[in-house]
Amino acid sequence: MSIIDQSGTFNLGDHKVRRLGYGAMQLAGPGVFGPPRDHDAALAVLREAVASGVNHIDTSDFYGPHITNQIIREALHPYRDDLVIVTKVGARRGTDGSWIPAFSRDELTEAVQDNLRNLGLDVLDVVNLRIMFDVHGPAEGSIEEPLTVLADLQRRGLVRHVGLSNATSGQIAEGRGITEIVCVQNQYNLAHRNDDRLIDDLARQGTAYVPFFPLGGFTPLQSSTLSNVAARLSATPMQVALAWLLRRAPNILLIPGTASLSHLRENLAAAGLALPDDAVEELNHMADVAA
Ligand SMILES: NC(=O)c1ccc[n+]([C@@H]2O[C@H](COP(=O)([O-])OP(=O)(O)OC[C@H]3O[C@@H](n4cnc5c(N)ncnc54)[C@H](OP(=O)(O)O)[C@@H]3O)[C@@H](O)[C@H]2O)c1
Repeated sequence: MSIIDQSGTFNLGDHKVRRLGYGAMQLAGPGVFGPPRDHDAALAVLREAVASGVNHIDTSDFYGPHITNQIIREALHPYRDDLVIVTKVGARRGTDGSWIPAFSRDELTEAVQDNLRNLGLDVLDVVNLRIMFDVHGPAEGSIEEPLTVLADLQRRGLVRHVGLSNATSGQIAEGRGITEIVCVQNQYNLAHRNDDRLIDDLARQGTAYVPFFPLGGFTPLQSSTLSNVAARLSATPMQVALAWLLRRAPNILLIPGTASLSHLRENLAAAGLALPDDAVEELNHMADVAA
């Protein structure tokens, strides 16, 4: 049994995945644009993640663009049967690295085809529609048109399951009228807890919630509470942040991102970190201080 088995499992589409997975966004170059600084290190991180038991990898063809998926293919293809690669569509990159909404039928179809080609797959396991009404956080607006396109691609057999990213509760309800929504991927971590109620609702409904920026994103979390708890438990702050998320709700699937082998090992070891109740209580108040 590997250490990440201790994170438990949860259903993602028709697969049961380990709750500690890996987010591949950090494998592209600075600003998620262009090639990585160290190509071989990127391959090594992916190979070690899967060898350690990770069977859920999050990516998108707009990371790089194309580059992250090409590295995943180079490192891991042919893929293990139990590996679930989740990708997302709904944006494209400008020549300056900007993130541009790409919601037309042609753009979404091309994005699915780009993901298939660059990952070397005939069908994508899970595709999240990345909602872009506001690039920085969920904002209301109908997703009927773009989600109908994804549902058509699902009927054509190019996409197995559909999820939503950067979504409001209203959009999740609207989406469920169009196709089954197997996961929701929104920003959430110890210091950013806007989705508390949504997570509990999705847990009751058996839907996976996948927090992006679980460690705080480009500027990892820093807090004296986190450091103090970590010191008491002889763990690192990042391990405590991940262990808290695992404890927060059973439907949370983790995809911490790193381009570093040592950080990968540290993050995967968080599966074995049991947080005592008093530490959880202290950490629960971190967002109040951050707010
Ligand atoms: N749906 C969306 O809109 C969306 C948006 C953003 C991200 N995502 C997905 O979510 C995944 C996770 O997000 P993320 O990678 O941006 O943020 P994250 O996991 O919160 O944090 C990544 C950052 O933390 C650092 N880090 C990782 N492990 C560390 C450790 N043990 N100690 C110290 N620093 C550590 C990384 O740098 P090093 O490389 O140096 O370790 C990187 O700077 C992404 O890979 C992507 O798949 C989705």
